[in-house]
Amino acid sequence: MKITFLLTRRVPDVPSPVLRKVCALLTRRGHLVDGWVPEDRLLRTDTLMPEADLYVLKSHTEAALSVAGVLHDHGAVLLNSFPACMFAQDKITATARLRAAGVAAPATWVTGDLSRAEELLEVGPLIVKPHRGHRGAHVHLVRTPAELADLPPVPAPAVVQRYVPGPGEDLKVYVAGEQVFAVRKPFDVESFTRPGRPVAVSREVRDLAAKVRSVFGLDLFGVDVIESPDGPVVVDVNYFPGYKGIRDTATPIADVITAYMPTEAAVS
Ligand SMILES: Nc1ncnc2c1ncn2[C@@H]1O[C@H](COP(=O)(O)OP(=O)(O)O)[C@@H](O)[C@H]1O
Ligand SMILES: [Mg+2]
Repeated sequence: MKITFLLTRRVPDVPSPVLRKVCALLTRRGHLVDGWVPEDRLLRTDTLMPEADLYVLKSHTEAALSVAGVLHDHGAVLLNSFPACMFAQDKITATARLRAAGVAAPATWVTGDLSRAEELLEVGPLIVKPHRGHRGAHVHLVRTPAELADLPPVPAPAVVQRYVPGPGEDLKVYVAGEQVFAVRKPFDVESFTRPGRPVAVSREVRDLAAKVRSVFGLDLFGVDVIESPDGPVVVDVNYFPGYKGIRDTATPIADVITAYMPTEAAVS
């Protein structure tokens, strides 16, 4: 079986350690594994046909997501599925889905005109962020109308969300199929480069992860959780995250990928 990873350009240009291990495992299991960065190619959109038995979407760029959409349309098997990635990556659709399914997630609004959000500040502070943001870029806490007016430009459309009070650290939950892992780490715009501290996963968080999995149809994903006084609240869902800070995730990830291949699943 041929497995192709859709990758993102990394600086410095070395593959992530977990991905290297996953690819080594898949190769050892007899698969042909390769990967490419959509931005590095000149791709003609109407003739881009699937050449792999399975594509694994490991890039979160707009280009990668769109290329995944073309491959999906042309019958490619994608992990995670293209619709699941689209719905998760877009914080407008993601929060709508979460709340409709009864998962604790902040009340969220979308607007192209942030001044419209001023009335929401009468009830409490807000988080403003881009609808398809990543790695904490352009995320702002807003407490007053003056702060709202002074915000640097946020890519439109912006998502405006109720601020969820927490301990000052995220609980980052990482899921590979049935396996659920978690780390705690403080959030700042550089924090995606740092591993968190592994922590035990409570029954409540495990159930939350299972719910998110079924709501989106994701198999490899991460959930950013704020441990609020009222319980865990999901503020972000990410397909195929970095699993930073968790040891020994390569085997569960490779197992999920292997199980996703229809013929492999039939023989195992
Ligand atoms: N509604 C919210 N309430 C409190 N903190 C939030 C909220 N939304 C985001 N955050 C904080 O901002 C961080 C980045 O926001 P997130 O939605 O995860 O954006 P990104 O997609 O860029 O990772 C989160 O990890 C969390 O610490
Ligand atoms: Mg996040």
